[in-house]
Amino acid sequence: MSFLEINGGRKLYGTVSVQGAKNAVLPMMAAALLNQGVTVIQNVPNILDVIHMIHIMEGLGCKISYENEILTLDASCLNTNELPSIWAGKMRCSIILLGALIGRCKDAVAYYPGGCSIGTRPIDLHIEGLKKMGVAFTFEGEKIRAKVDKLIGTEILLPFPSVGATENILLAAVKAHGTTCIRGAAREPEIVELCQMLNTMGGHIEGAGSDTILVYGVAELHDCSMKVSGDRIVAATYLMAAAACGGEIMVTEAPCNYMNTSLAVLEQMGCKIRKEERQVEIHSDGNLCPVPYIRTEPYPGFPTDVQSQLMAALCFSKGRSVIEETIFEDRFHTALELKKMGADIIIEGRRALIYADQRLCGADVEANDLRGGAALVIAGLAATGRTRITSCQHIFRGYARIDTDIQQLGANIVKKVDETEENRAGI
Ligand code: UD1
Repeated sequence: MSFLEINGGRKLYGTVSVQGAKNAVLPMMAAALLNQGVTVIQNVPNILDVIHMIHIMEGLGCKISYENEILTLDASCLNTNELPSIWAGKMRCSIILLGALIGRCKDAVAYYPGGCSIGTRPIDLHIEGLKKMGVAFTFEGEKIRAKVDKLIGTEILLPFPSVGATENILLAAVKAHGTTCIRGAAREPEIVELCQMLNTMGGHIEGAGSDTILVYGVAELHDCSMKVSGDRIVAATYLMAAAACGGEIMVTEAPCNYMNTSLAVLEQMGCKIRKEERQVEIHSDGNLCPVPYIRTEPYPGFPTDVQSQLMAALCFSKGRSVIEETIFEDRFHTALELKKMGADIIIEGRRALIYADQRLCGADVEANDLRGGAALVIAGLAATGRTRITSCQHIFRGYARIDTDIQQLGANIVKKVDETEENRAGI
């Protein structure tokens, strides 16, 4: 059985560097499919989601090497247009390959990614967007068959700024005939990074980072080399840990300009923040103020991917906080685990009410999802006594070295991994 074991109660001090961003690298890997040559991506974190994506792309015939955080993808030798069901059915973000495969082959078979522990996560916006470009879909059980003679640029209005749907449409549109205008597009930094990469490959995209993106279709893309930026969610996780434990840490390689809402919340909690372009320093005396009300929102709002970590940190404040989750309908599972440690949290629909007036004690808890697992690490670090987190393979989907990074800050945390569990992770 894999687990993380923490002996909590220590303040955190020191410097930690942030890994490359998971949510940026996955669509960048998909973009490599559109290049009938070699694409190099640097600063690629060694996380399970990347490893699974490598397996999927190798299943398509790509030749891939991954060493020293450098991923070299040769997509010249693609030999099938069907995603391998064994991986694709398990890994939700494999759906991001759909737009790229259609762009490359005009004909693709993907698998419905299904729901996950944070919500149902439909893909209707991906499908409707691609349909507007001329793609016809047939569905047989979990299998999705997509076919198009000629991808035609058009105007697509997204009723909600879905990150995945925006990425899929971009990947299909970059080599479409004519111009695609995505209105209501997601504005996340990962979208900007994907567009920068596609433009470096010879694409012509304008407006990334705003809610209207124009994609002027080009005939071909070419080789490129890109470096993934630091992971804003991992950076926020480490800052939340320092806030809850108390202490003073410096987080380097953090994309601070994309972290304004997370940093503002930490200041509201009474932490002192000093940021430069790519590093941020936090000082916390451990006496945190509550946050009377905050809600998750699409970027530039407060990220849903930091909601669980914030909830864990707020358990160590004094007073009542309210968090409203507006993005995923079922993202409060972690509250149940935090309660095992003594937290006083009431869930009312999409709101979590956190009453914090006593310290938490270590306990045996289970990670139910990636960010919820990271939240349990924060709680374990700030609680007194021993916390053992099982099902921690969820955490390794997105954190390459959470144990060693946090050890470096003076915490007592050890990891034990059972390799056979990896494939059972609900990815
Ligand atoms: C991406 C991120 C994830 C983050 C999320 C929101 C990756 C690999 N994952 O996920 O970490 O939490 O953005 O910031 O980048 N929706 C629909 N229909 C659709 C698509 C989405 O109803 O076709 C809904 C979802 O159920 C959810 C909301 O829109 O309620 C946001 O989803 P979306 O922005 O698409 O998130 P992902 O791309 O899946």
